[in-house]
Amino acid sequence: MGAEQVTERFTQLYGARPEGVWAAPGRVNLIGEHTDYNDGFVMPFALPHRAVAAVSRRTDGILRLHSGDIEGGRAEITELRLDTLAPQSDDDWTAYPAGVVWALREAGHEITGADVHLSSTVPTGAGLSSSAALEVVIALALDELYGLGLQRWKLARLCQRAENVYVGAPTGIMDQTASACCEQGHALFLDTRDLSQRQIPFDLAAEGLRLLVVDTQVKHAHSGGEYGKRRAGCEKGAALLGVDALRDVPYAGLDAALARLGDDEEVVRLVRHVVTENHRVERVVSLLRSGETRAIGPVLTEGHASLRDDFRISCPELDLVVDTALANGALGARMTGGGFGGSAIVLAESTETDTLTKAVEESFTASGFTVPRVFEAVPSTGATRLT
Ligand code: GLA
Repeated sequence: MGAEQVTERFTQLYGARPEGVWAAPGRVNLIGEHTDYNDGFVMPFALPHRAVAAVSRRTDGILRLHSGDIEGGRAEITELRLDTLAPQSDDDWTAYPAGVVWALREAGHEITGADVHLSSTVPTGAGLSSSAALEVVIALALDELYGLGLQRWKLARLCQRAENVYVGAPTGIMDQTASACCEQGHALFLDTRDLSQRQIPFDLAAEGLRLLVVDTQVKHAHSGGEYGKRRAGCEKGAALLGVDALRDVPYAGLDAALARLGDDEEVVRLVRHVVTENHRVERVVSLLRSGETRAIGPVLTEGHASLRDDFRISCPELDLVVDTALANGALGARMTGGGFGGSAIVLAESTETDTLTKAVEESFTASGFTVPRVFEAVPSTGATRLT
């Protein structure tokens, strides 16, 4: 969806052209899953799929929201009064933009209203951060229109607060930071403890490689209990080990740490995943920096095994993508995002991707699953103003 179409629709809806149009992307995470709420490392990159928002300010304390194409979108405009915005009061897509306005006002920023028309190409419930894209695009638009001068990491924090408190999903900081801070042609190596970042060049095409996203179309939701249970289990592990967060358990000290946890099998598994996953992020960063891109494949696959067997958040469809891709020549494959459905990523030689895609589709049909949506992920630009 381009700036022109969104501008035109906004003008029809609200009777005047918008003050500006902004875009914020969805993301895939290359490696570093369920590490962000453990103060650990992540490595997402931005997708070309994005949320686009046409926005104008209002002065009367009213927020008007409209989207025709976001799941749950309606023909009519939703009108909310800013002074009545309250956590967990909206149960559709409007909670994301409304939550951002709420979080900005809670943080003391004077927002007096807005008219918004939103359109998004980020698949919903696919583990590709469609909600972070909605949050970040609104945060950036209001930051610029109201002259707040907030840095990108700060915008991401406010969006995370909207998601945690207003929407009520206990997620980490990865998705919002990815949408706000990623750069074209790069993956973002992010330390979620202090939000320090490094842009790592990630140009697969130049090396004759491709990264496919396979959206299993199995829907997930992070406000549901399983994500929160994993998070609570990790926090329990950190408390038992006497550290602030599992990030503080060094890879070299993993065996000793697990021995200290004794026979609490569930916590042992969660801790083992987080500590080995942080180590995998560091391995991937160092392989990419030394130009050994193909060698990251097996590390991605190890990450999948850890999410499947230790963290226990995969599902038969995601496992089938990974197994079929590996049996058909992929260099590596794993689920990406929060789990319990959503998408997998597959790293492969460019020459192999057609065969691979066909093999995955056939395996789904043979298993009686809905045929997945497969597309190539090219590291794209983070949130930006379009007009
Ligand atoms: C979801 C959350 C993120 C992160 C991932 C798992 O995408 O929003 O904060 O925890 O799951 O890595």
